[in-house]
Amino acid sequence: MSGDGVDTKRRRFLIAATTVVGGVGAVYTAVPFLASWMPSERAKAAGAPVEADFSKLESGQMIRVQWRGKPVWMVKRTDEMLEALPTLDDKLRDPASEEPQQPEYCQNPTRSIKPDILVAVGICTHLGCSPSFVPEAVPQPFAADWKGGFFCPCHGSFFDLAGRVYTGVPAPLNLEIPPHKYISDTLILVGDDRGAA
Ligand code: FES
Repeated sequence: MSGDGVDTKRRRFLIAATTVVGGVGAVYTAVPFLASWMPSERAKAAGAPVEADFSKLESGQMIRVQWRGKPVWMVKRTDEMLEALPTLDDKLRDPASEEPQQPEYCQNPTRSIKPDILVAVGICTHLGCSPSFVPEAVPQPFAADWKGGFFCPCHGSFFDLAGRVYTGVPAPLNLEIPPHKYISDTLILVGDDRGAA
C-alpha cells in the first residue's frame, strides 16, 4: 500500500464525515425554524374557538366560559331586562354602539344576535378588572335607579345589560362583544363567526 493510497482513503473518510456532520447541522437548523413557525398545541388551544352550551341557562341568569384566557359571559335576559335597555340611552356614553366594540351583526339595540342572549367579554374597558353581574333592578349605592347590569368594583364603572357603559365612570368604552355564531338553538361557538348569517 503506498502513502498516497492511505492519504486518499483518509481524505475520503474525512469528506464523508464532514458531509454527515453537515447533514446533521442542517437538520438542527431546520427544527428550530419549524418549531417557531408552527404554533404549538397549547397556543392553538389558547386561540381556538370555544363552544358554549346554554341549554340549562334560565332567564335572568349568567354563565361564563373561557376564551383566549378571557372570561366570556352569556346572559339570558328577561323581557323586563330587554324593555329597560332603551330607557337608559341618555345615561350611556355610546348607546348606539358606534365604537367598534362588537361585530357588525351585534351593532343593534341589544348588542346581540338573538335579543335575549347577550354574549360579552367580561373585562372592564377601563383597566381590565372583571365586573360583577348585578342583575336585579333595585337601587344600588352606585346608581339609585339601577335597571340591572354589571359593576366593576376596581374603580366604580358600570354597564347595562347590553354591556353599554354609563357616562361619568372611568371606563371609556362598552364591553367587547366577541365574534360568535350559533351552532344550534342552545349552542354558541365563541371566537369564530365564519359562515354565520
Ligand atoms: S378596571 Fe373597571 S373601573 Fe377601573
